[in-house]
Amino acid sequence: MQYSTRKNPVEHGFNDIYPSNQQDLSMNNAHAESNQEPITSPLDLDLLEQIRSQFHHTEHCPYAGKRIYFESAGGSLTLKSVIERTAELGAVPDNEHRNNAASKAMSSVVEEGLENLKLLFGAKSGVVFGGETGTECLFRLVRSAVLASPEGGSILSSSVEHPSTYSATQIWAENTSREWIEVPFDTRSGVVSAADYASCVRPDTRVATVIHTNPVTGVVMDIKAIIDAIRAIAPECYVIVDGIQHAPHGYLDVEAYGADAYVLSLYKVYSKFNNGYAWLSDRMSVIPHDRLIGKPNNVWELGSRDPSALAAITEVVKYLAWLGKQFTQEAGTRDQLHAAGKVMLQHERALISMLLNGNAEHCGLLGMQGVTVVGTTDINQREGVVSFCVENMETANLVELLGDRGIRIHTRSSDIYSGNILRPLGIESVARVSFAHYNTEEEVRTFLENLLEILK
Ligand SMILES: Cc1ncc(COP(=O)(O)O)c(C=O)c1O
Repeated sequence: MQYSTRKNPVEHGFNDIYPSNQQDLSMNNAHAESNQEPITSPLDLDLLEQIRSQFHHTEHCPYAGKRIYFESAGGSLTLKSVIERTAELGAVPDNEHRNNAASKAMSSVVEEGLENLKLLFGAKSGVVFGGETGTECLFRLVRSAVLASPEGGSILSSSVEHPSTYSATQIWAENTSREWIEVPFDTRSGVVSAADYASCVRPDTRVATVIHTNPVTGVVMDIKAIIDAIRAIAPECYVIVDGIQHAPHGYLDVEAYGADAYVLSLYKVYSKFNNGYAWLSDRMSVIPHDRLIGKPNNVWELGSRDPSALAAITEVVKYLAWLGKQFTQEAGTRDQLHAAGKVMLQHERALISMLLNGNAEHCGLLGMQGVTVVGTTDINQREGVVSFCVENMETANLVELLGDRGIRIHTRSSDIYSGNILRPLGIESVARVSFAHYNTEEEVRTFLENLLEILK
C-alpha cells in the first residue's frame, strides 16, 4: 500500500512519529500531580434512583446475575421506554407512503423521530439520515466526500481516531491515489490538538476526520478549535466528525462546531442497538452520493426506514428532556437537553474524580502502586472513560477477576479497534472502566475496594 509522507505506523514502526512513547509509559501515573480536587455530583440519591429506575438491567445481567455495569462505552444501558415503544411499533407491518391509517401513523412516527434527531444534534440547517451503524455512516461520508473533491491533494486522519474513520480515510485515499496524512497525538495526554492538525493540513487537504471523544482513553478533543485550524488552511476541506463516544456524555451542538458532518450511534445513547445517524451540513448534503435517481439531491436515506428505530430516538430525547427539566425552568427541548448534558457530565466527573483520587477509605487509581492510568488526569478533559493497566498483570485476567466479583469492565487491546491508539503509547492492553450518568459513587467505591483486594 502506498500512503503518505507521514508514515502509517502499523507498517513502518512508530519511532518516526512517536519517538518517545516508551519513555512516557515507563513512569507510572506520570500526571498524578496535576490532578484535581474531588468534584460534587449534582444528582442526589433520590434523583439517581429515579434515573436508574428508567433503565433495564441496572444491577442485574440476564446472563451473569448481579453486577455493576461499567461498560457503557461498549453499549449504554437501555431505557425501558425505548424497549416498550419499539416492541409496540416493531409489530406493525405497514410501510410508509400508503393511503391507510397504519401507514400514516408510521410516517408520523418517522417524522417525529427525525425532528427529535435534529434536536439531539442541535441541527438547524443541513440534513440527517440513518445508516446501518456508526461505522457504516462514517465510511459512506468519507467515501462520498473524497469522491466529490477535486483530484489529487491529501486526506487527513489522526491515530487517536477509531478505525471507522482511520481506516476509511486510508482506504479512500488509496482508492483515489491521494496522499494520506496521519496527525499524531500527544501520547502523554491522549489529546490531538488544533496545533497538531495545523502542522499537517495543507491548502490541498480535501477531507479531514476528527474524533470528538476517544473511546479508549475517554479524552475529549477541542473539535471547534481543530476545525477552525483546518479551515484556516484548507477552507474547502470536508470535515467529518466522529461523535459516537461524545454523544452519551454531553450536549451536541453541530451548528457551533463548523463541521460538515457529525455521526452518533444510538446504542451508546441509552437506546437498544439501532442505527448509526449522521448530520450533514447544507454544503455536504448535496455532494454526489448514492441515492435513488429522482429523489431530491440532499436525500441520503436508502430504502425503507424502521419506524421503531426513529421512535427510539424520540424516547431518548424525551428522557433527556425530562432529566434537563429537573434542573431548568426553560420550556424549550434544546434548553432541557443542554441542562441534561451539563448535569450528566458533572456527575460523571464526580465519579471519575473518585475513581482516580479515591476517597477517605480507599486509594484511587492514581495512588495505586504499579497502576498506570492512560491519558490526561485533567478530569475536565475526560468523558465517562478511564483506562489503566497494571504492572506484571495480564489485563484480560484482571477484567475476568473483576467480572467474577460482579464488576463488568472491558479489555481494550492493541487490535484492529484500538491498536492505532495503544501502539503509540507502547501499551499492549488496558482495562477500560466506562461510566454514564446512571452510575453511582457507591459502585465506584465497590470497584476500588475489589481492585485493591485483587492487587494485594
Ligand atoms: C468513537 C467511536 N467511533 C466509532 C465507533 C463504531 O460505532 P458503531 O459500532 O456504531 O459502528 C465506536 C464504537 O465503539 C466508537 O466508540
